[in-house]
This record gives sequence, structure tokens and C-alpha cells, in this order.
Amino acid sequence: MVKINQFEGGAFDHPDNCAACHQEIHDAWSKSKHRYAWEDPFYQPDYLLASRETEGFTDIFCGECHAPVAVRTQQLPPPDGSLFDATAKKGVSCDYCHTVKEVVEPVNVKTISDPGRIKRGPRGEGESPYHEMMFSKVHTESAFCGACHNVVHPTSGAVVIDTFADWEEGPYAKEGTRCQDCHMTPGPGVEKNPGKSSFMGSERDHVPTHFFPGGSVFFQQREGNEREMELAKEMLQAAAELETEAHATQEGMELVVKVKNVGAGHKIPTGVTYIRKMWLEVTVTNGQGKVLHTSGQVKESNHVDPDTIFYHKVFRDEEGNLTPKSWLAEEIAYDRRIPAKGHDVQSFSIALDENETTDLQVTVRLLYRSMSQEAADQLGIDGIKVPEIEMARSELSVTL
Ligand code: HEC
Ligand code: HEC
Ligand code: HEC
Ligand code: HEC
Ligand code: HEC
Repeated sequence: MVKINQFEGGAFDHPDNCAACHQEIHDAWSKSKHRYAWEDPFYQPDYLLASRETEGFTDIFCGECHAPVAVRTQQLPPPDGSLFDATAKKGVSCDYCHTVKEVVEPVNVKTISDPGRIKRGPRGEGESPYHEMMFSKVHTESAFCGACHNVVHPTSGAVVIDTFADWEEGPYAKEGTRCQDCHMTPGPGVEKNPGKSSFMGSERDHVPTHFFPGGSVFFQQREGNEREMELAKEMLQAAAELETEAHATQEGMELVVKVKNVGAGHKIPTGVTYIRKMWLEVTVTNGQGKVLHTSGQVKESNHVDPDTIFYHKVFRDEEGNLTPKSWLAEEIAYDRRIPAKGHDVQSFSIALDENETTDLQVTVRLLYRSMSQEAADQLGIDGIKVPEIEMARSELSVTL
């Protein structure tokens, strides 16, 4: 019997084999999160915990996305990766993506691979002495990304990651803006990357970039990847805007803050929102700089003021308890995020002394952590202090 998607070890090319001719693409990919998908120091502890708690049930499931070559060449299990060859360790690599023949359904990696001499891509023209080329429509579509960026719990059906489904229902799908149009371009607002994909190839009006930046500033900072850190920051800052209004009330003042998603093709935050956090920090000072009100501040412990409203998603397990463990997700207990081209409104009632009515300085910041401090603590990685990234800020002077 022919087994679908099962191949001999070595069936997929090592990315070094592509680097000689596709240098620039290789450089970009090699610091992208796709490259790190298996070795990722935040993924590994979560994955190993899942494996222990489920007695190995999750090994292949998680591996399908985080080590697709390993799963397709029977190098997983065991979960510790001790059977991995050099290619399998490279996470979501060139030859995994460019030998996908079909996306059966854009969820839980339901794709068919066809590794070999034919590399599939968006153009299907050009000459390479190393491989044949084939135009592949699926590579030009969001569903290609959706195969992995849409995760449903295999037994409970709880939606773990909904980036693709959310994009598909949103305004960007309708206007035809794909994942590739925002994540495979030089950066927010720059659509074209003219040049050659290989020194042997032809001049093209756009060569898709392979940095795949998202919100992982903290991760790239830890890896020492300066440029990738900046790219991630640019993405976060392109995503949101704030609008703040102040009104006098009997007790003092009410602030109404509109948080707008102006740049992301999906909700913000998206992806592993059960370990991420986004929130508003509000500070009011008087003309002398005395702080009259704060909320959403980061405490000494590096945890955020618990009374804050967070934008993220929280799971409930079988016993009805809240849990950050995706493998225990039975249902969604809480999900507050900001839809593409949509907004959320938060009001803050601020009590003020009667004499504090003039020259008030209001600062509102939208802050983001790609991993909450709670999640970092739970992963047990010593000494992690997760920084917050400012996505947007609004300042106003108020006289009531
Ligand atoms: C996550 C999947 C993924 C990975 C990993 C990946 N690519 Fe791509 N690549 C794509 C997609 C999708 C496109 C087409 C994008 C589009 O249509 O805008 C593409 C486009 C290309 C192109 C076509 C450029 C052109 O304009 O003709 C080349 C060449 C290429 N990739 C090579 C590589 C190499 C080499 C690597 C590894 C260093 C790599 N890719 C890794 C998904 C991937
Ligand atoms: C000996 C050089 C060479 C090597 C090695 C090489 N390529 Fe290419 N590749 C090319 C050239 C040349 C083109 C055509 C570029 C052009 O004209 O735009 C190309 C085009 C591509 C395309 C575009 C196909 C399309 O439809 O647009 C993909 C995808 C691709 N290569 C993937 C890979 C992968 C993956 C590897 C490693 C397993 C690899 N290449 C190794 C030279 C090479
Ligand atoms: C084989 C599965 C797979 C495919 C196909 C895939 N991705 Fe990913 N992607 C991942 C995984 C896994 C990660 C996270 C790796 C990690 O952090 O450990 C990731 C990370 C990312 C990130 C980085 C997010 C951050 O927090 O910085 C972006 C952006 C991204 N992918 C976009 C895309 C786009 C666009 C496509 C389609 C062209 C695509 N991906 C196709 C599996 C995939
Ligand atoms: C209109 C542009 C746009 C489109 C279309 C788009 N994204 Fe994004 N994406 C962004 C921006 C901006 C961010 C940064 C904000 C953030 O991290 O939430 C982002 C963040 C991400 C992240 C990081 C997760 C996070 O919250 O940090 C992933 C993963 C991702 N996108 C995947 C995708 C996939 C998959 C698609 C297609 C289904 C897609 N994006 C479509 C603009 C876009
Ligand atoms: C169908 C694909 C898929 C499966 C299955 C999957 N993941 Fe992921 N995982 C992703 C994608 C895509 C991302 C990146 C999302 C983002 O950046 O927002 C990711 C990111 C992560 C991250 C965050 C890494 C970081 O650096 O922020 C962790 C941790 C993680 N996954 C753990 C797991 C575990 C544990 C399992 C198995 C129980 C698993 N994943 C199964 C697709 C998958």
C-alpha cells in the first residue's frame, strides 16, 4: 500500500542546497520563524510538556507544523528529536514549502507533498540546472499558509489558531489581499521587491521576500537578529492606531479610547493568542508632572496590572478551569481581539481632586507582548523578563 506523505529519509532537500543560487531568499528565511519552528526555545518546552502530559499523543500532531519534514520522513517520534537529520531540524524549510502539491483543506496541515526534482512556485518560468519548475496556483493563495496558520484541536474541536479562517471572513479576503501581500513583501507599505530570485535567473518586478515578519520582537531580540527585530516592530506598529477623547464627569474625567486595527489582515493579536497579551496603559499627570492616575502598568514582578482588560484568548479545560495549555483546550473561555479594519472601545473613569482640572496630560499606549510573563514563567525558562512593545500611542492635553 502506498502511504500518503511518507517518504524516505533524505527525500527533502537541505536548505543549504538552495542557498548557492537563492542566496538572498536563504538569508531572509534563515532568520525567519519558519526556520526556527522546531528549535524555537519557546516552542520546545511547551511541546515537551504536551508530549509528557498526553503520553506522546501530541508528538506527531505538533510536529506536522513545527517539523513537517521530520514527520514526513518518519523521524518523529521520539519527541526529543534524536532521530532528526540535519534537514528535519530546519523547521518549515524551502523544500517542504516548494514541494507541496496540494492543500486538501487549509487546517492542521492537510497537504500533500511531492518531494523531488520539481520545485513548485508562483511563476513556473525560468531555467535552473538544479531543478525543474512548475507553476503552482496554491502557492499564490492564502490557503497555502492557512494549512498551518489554522489549528483545530483534534479531539475537542476547540479553535487554537484561527488566522486563516479569520482572514477569510474578513475584509482583506474580499478585496483580494493575500497573506503573501503583507508577509512576503519588504515591509508594511512596500509592496514590490524588484530583482532576481537567483543570480542565474531573470530580472523580475517582484521577488517575494522570505523574512515572514510577525509580532516576534522579543524572540528576534533574544536570537540577536537586529534586522528581523526591527521588521517585527514595524509590523506591530503598522497594525494599530489609537483615538482618545476626554469628557468632564462629576468625579473627574472619562476617557474614551478607540483601538483601531488599521494594518493587519486578521485580528490583533492573532496566532498563539493564548500566550500573547495586548493591552492599554493609561497615565494621567498634572502640569507639575504628578501622576494622578495609572492603569495597565507593568509591575515590579514584570506582570501587568491584573485589573487591565487584555486582548487575547483564553482556553478552558475539561474540568472547566482556565489553562494556557493548547492541548487541554476544550473550549474558548474568553476571546477579546480587534478585527481587521475594525475597532474596540474602552472607557476609563478617572476620579480627580476638584483642583485638578487644568493642564492634564493624558498618555495612552497600546502595548504588546508576544508572550505573557505568565506564559514565560510556566515554560520555566529562567530569567526571562518579557519586554513590551509599543504598538501605538496617543497623547492629549486636557482642561476640563
Ligand atoms: C512557508 C513556506 C515557504 C518557505 C519556508 C520558503 N518559501 Fe519560497 N515561496 C513561498 C511562497 C508562498 C512563494 C510565492 C509568494 C507569492 O506568490 O507572492 C515563494 C516564492 C519563492 C520563489 C519564487 C521567486 C520568484 O519571484 O520567482 C523562490 C525562488 C523561492 N520561494 C525559494 C525559496 C527558498 C530557496 C527557500 C528556502 C531558503 C524558500 N523559498 C522557503 C513559500 C515558502
Ligand atoms: C543551480 C542553481 C539553483 C539551485 C541550487 C536551486 N535553484 Fe531554484 N531556481 C534557480 C533559477 C535560476 C530559478 C529561476 C529564477 C528566475 O528566472 O526567476 C529558480 C527558481 C526557483 C523557484 C521558482 C519557481 C516558480 O514557479 O516561480 C523555486 C520555488 C525554487 N527555485 C526553489 C528552489 C529550492 C527549494 C531549491 C533548493 C532545494 C532550489 N531552488 C535550488 C536556480 C537554482
Ligand atoms: C508547514 C506549516 C507552515 C506553513 C505552510 C506556513 N507557516 Fe508560517 N509559521 C509556521 C510555524 C510553525 C510558525 C511559528 C514557528 C515558531 O515560532 O516556533 C510560523 C510563523 C509565521 C510567522 C511569524 C509570526 C511571528 O510571531 O513572528 C509569520 C508571519 C508566518 N508564519 C506567515 C506565514 C505565511 C504568510 C505563510 C504562507 C506563505 C506561512 N506562514 C506558511 C508554520 C507554517
Ligand atoms: C493587510 C496586511 C496583512 C494581511 C493580509 C495578513 N497579515 Fe498577518 N500581520 C499583519 C500585521 C501588520 C501584523 C502585525 C500585528 C500582529 O502581530 O498582530 C501581522 C501579524 C501576523 C502574525 C503574527 C502573530 C501576532 O499576533 O503577532 C502571523 C502569524 C500572521 N500575521 C500570519 C498571517 C497569515 C497566515 C495571513 C493570511 C491568512 C496574514 N497574516 C494576512 C498584516 C497582515
Ligand atoms: C497546524 C499547525 C500547527 C500545529 C499542529 C501546532 N502548531 Fe504551534 N504554531 C503554529 C503556528 C502557525 C504558530 C505561529 C503563530 C503565531 O506566530 O502567531 C505556532 C506557534 C507556536 C508557539 C509559539 C512560539 C513562539 O516563539 O512564540 C508555541 C509555543 C507552539 N506553537 C506550540 C505548539 C504545540 C505544543 C503544539 C502541539 C500541541 C503545536 N504548537 C501544534 C502552528 C501549529
